[in-house]
Amino acid sequence: MKINYLMPTRIITGENCLYAERQFLSGLGKKALIVTGNNSAKISGAYDDAVKTLEANGQRHVLFDKVMANPTDACVYEAGLMARREGCDFILGCGGGSPMDAAKAVAVLALIDLSKEELFSAAFDRALPLAMIPTTSGTGSETTPYSILTDSTGSVDKTPMKRSVSSPLLFPRLAFLDAKYTIRLNRNTTINTAIDALSHAVEGMLCLRANHLSNMLAKEAITMIMDCMKDLLAFPAENPAAFPPEKREKLLLASSIAGMVIAQTGTAVPHSMGYLPTINWGTDHGRANGLFFKSFLSWCREKEQDSADKRIPALCSALGTEPEQFFDILELLLGPHEKATETELQAWSKLPMKNAANTYIKPEQKDIERIFRESLG
Ligand SMILES: [Fe+2]
Repeated sequence: MKINYLMPTRIITGENCLYAERQFLSGLGKKALIVTGNNSAKISGAYDDAVKTLEANGQRHVLFDKVMANPTDACVYEAGLMARREGCDFILGCGGGSPMDAAKAVAVLALIDLSKEELFSAAFDRALPLAMIPTTSGTGSETTPYSILTDSTGSVDKTPMKRSVSSPLLFPRLAFLDAKYTIRLNRNTTINTAIDALSHAVEGMLCLRANHLSNMLAKEAITMIMDCMKDLLAFPAENPAAFPPEKREKLLLASSIAGMVIAQTGTAVPHSMGYLPTINWGTDHGRANGLFFKSFLSWCREKEQDSADKRIPALCSALGTEPEQFFDILELLLGPHEKATETELQAWSKLPMKNAANTYIKPEQKDIERIFRESLG
């Protein structure tokens, strides 16, 4: 058994943990660039807490609040320049997956002049220290070495595509998990981010690089998220604050644990497939992954009949249910699937799926087409 496990992020949890444990932040530098979107960090109270904490530490700060959903290469270059101009020596990512993923690239671009291709191929040897304050419970970016960006001129035909920057230098030094920042999240965001976290843990178990440590973490994250399913299904749409706070806390920690899983394993083919509805239709990332799960897991179960590598039983044991019951729950959460046109199905089925090679049974192009058609046809 070969394991090479790295997880250098200090995780600090609990209500008001950022302020209470602010001494850890004080070691990161003298001036922070706070990287956020224009909304969630402020509405959640995380931005105000960050400012209060930095001021109590005697640390200066400037704000970059222009990170959009699915952040672009242009956005992180702009923020990187701002960090340099302002003399920032550490980066505080605050918000959902988009601001945190952007913050990681900014931490590099603040120090080094890089072409876009150099950035995406991780041709860098340093980055500013990073601290993260997640305000959603899904991405797990606070515990991964990945920055997922939209390359605005990326693919062969110059249409935007999601690309990943991966480097151990992108592991945040600190992650502050305070579920109070998530209490205002509405039904859609709560469910979609929970599905994202669940997809990280489930896919992690189905990746070639899965090992004893990652499976241990994945099983725990899956159990924690499944324990929230009843409440997610009964989500009080008119009053998000009525969603049980202890379940918010559980989802937040589970998403960080699921991040620790994919930090080791990467993701499997549903994440590659999910980028297409996200880029083309604006489908939320977690939902986009979830749309493929029923078909993907059914395909895995079928294929592993003839394989020595059987993983679905261990997955079912973590889920605490048989696949059919899990699919029922998932489909209730998702509601009716989006429909792709025949042109889209044909075009998407032909695209290379980067994570196919990382999936424990590698799907061929015809399998990808089948999963697209069953999920979106
Ligand atoms: Fe994800």
